[in-house]
Order: sequence, then structure tokens, then C-alpha cells
Amino acid sequence: YKQLQGRHVLSLYDLTPAELVYLVDAADDMKTQHKAGKANRPLEGKTLGMLFEKPSTRTRLSFEIGIFQLGGMGMFLNTNDLHLGRGESVADTANVLSGYLNGIMLRTYDHEMIESFATHAHIPVINGLSDRHHPCQVLADLQTIREVKSGWNGVKLAYIGDGNNMAYSLLAGAAMTGMTISMASPEGYKPDSDAIQQASAVADKTGGHVEMTSDPQHAVKQADVIYTDVWKSMGQEKSNDREHAFAGYQVNRELINAARNDASFMHCLPANRGKEVTDDVMDGSQSVIFQQAENRLHAQKALMTALMG
Ligand code: CP
Ligand code: NVA
Repeated sequence: YKQLQGRHVLSLYDLTPAELVYLVDAADDMKTQHKAGKANRPLEGKTLGMLFEKPSTRTRLSFEIGIFQLGGMGMFLNTNDLHLGRGESVADTANVLSGYLNGIMLRTYDHEMIESFATHAHIPVINGLSDRHHPCQVLADLQTIREVKSGWNGVKLAYIGDGNNMAYSLLAGAAMTGMTISMASPEGYKPDSDAIQQASAVADKTGGHVEMTSDPQHAVKQADVIYTDVWKSMGQEKSNDREHAFAGYQVNRELINAARNDASFMHCLPANRGKEVTDDVMDGSQSVIFQQAENRLHAQKALMTALMG
């Protein structure tokens, strides 16, 4: 699949729907090989930079272990340990790092920072979470949904909560794979209308559907998957009005019972247990949260191989 070589993935929209499906198929292959104990080292001798402006558990671990398993090496970089943190320009940094690395993953606050980095980089740039997108998470989520629902066609995904980076990427991923996505967010916390329109336009072509509501009960009706995320994303810890705004948006037993009997519960993690989701849902038999987290490894190995191979 040579057409992905050298490309950036800042958002799922940087891929065509067919390329997205190819990557999930490749993620399944990576998983099968890994479980069978087979070595697969297409990135022998290659290096991935991993630049973080924010904390991370899953993204750091899965990228660093993933590149190692593929035969390469990952290098953890903290913005504040680079001259970038004291004023060296994004453009100069991108140019310099391009001379050393074969690929780079960035986790930033401003999405524009990743875009600007990608403009100046000569190596593939992967978004490992910005305030606007989390494509790698949704790549793994699509793999997980297909594992538990045997496909995407006809699947209804209900997203309950903040119209944040996860919401934007789930809109893109659901639309591109032809799912129905029903999103329940409070007024003032919905994704912006441009993003909703963009996803709806894609869904029109794939047989998917995008629906916005403020009512969680309505969103979960007949849902196959219920997805939520924190009410306060990284950098928003001090915003006090959020607890109040999201009070009716907890995913608890009552809300789960309003969905299909076989609905799966998903969360990108980290979770704030007792806030957006209760313990019994997180730890219940319908929860696939740890399967999602594991699939980050397989999905990103597929992504790195396609872009950096
Ligand atoms: N889901 C996710 O990206 O987790 P981390 O913040 O731990 O990387
Ligand atoms: N919305 C969360 C996702 C973390 C993986 C955040 O941005 O903090």
C-alpha cells in the first residue's frame, strides 16, 4: 500500500475511507502476528520521535513499544527539554528533526502547532492528540468496534459528553466507516457546525448518519456502542462550570440499560470514575475499555509501517 508512504496523519480526514479500512485490516494482521509470537520488523533501524506537550500513558507506551517491536527505536521528547520550549521556532525544529528521524508523533495543545510542524517537516507526522483530533485513538476504536460488532455497517455509536478532540475524531471515523453516530452534548459543548457538516457530507457517501442531540437517553436508544470521555480534558482541570454543565451526562447503569442489550461501553481513557462514568459500567461485562487500549499498539504499528515503511 505504497500510497501512504511519507504521508502525514493529523486527522482521519487525511486518509480516504478506503485507506482507513486498509489500516484497520493491517492492524488486525499486526495483532494476529503479535499473538502468534511472530516477529515482524519492517522498520528495522528506523527511528520515531515522540514529542509531548502533555502527559500520556497509553500513547507513549504503545508508540514506544510499537516502534521497538517493528525493529526500530522510539525517542521520547518533552517540549520543555528542547529549545522549542524556550523559543526555537517550530519550523526550525521540524527541519532539524527531519534530518535525524524517520517519523514523528506529536501531542500538543494547539492543533495549529502540529499543522505548522507538518508543513515544515520532511518526514511523516502523526497526531498523538491535539485539542482538535485524536486519530490514533479512533483507529484503534474502529478496530475494537469491528471486533465486537463484526463490522461497522448498521452499527449505531452513541457519544455522550464533551464535544472535544475525541468527539471530532469519532465523528470523522464513524462517518468514514458508514456508522450512525448520535452525539449528546450540553448546549455550549457541542462540536462546531463545520465539523458536523463535514462528517455529515462524508456519511452521505458511505451510508452513515450523523445526529446531534442534547438528550443522552435519545442518543443511546438502539445504540450498539456507548462512548464517553472526560468532562475536563488536559489543560481544562481548573474550569469549574463543567461539572455543572455535564451533570446529566453520566454514563451509568440506567443509561446503559436504555441502549441495546448487547451494547458495548467504550472510553479512550484515562477516565474520571464517578464523573462521566460509574465504576459498575467501567468494570461491567459490556465494557471493552482495555481491549481498546491494547489495540492502540496494533493500530499504530499498522500506521507507522504504512507511513514510515
Ligand atoms: N487514550 C489516550 O490517548 O491515553 P493517554 O493520554 O494515556 O495517552
Ligand atoms: N479528551 C481527553 C482525551 C485524552 C486521551 C483530553 O484531551 O485530555
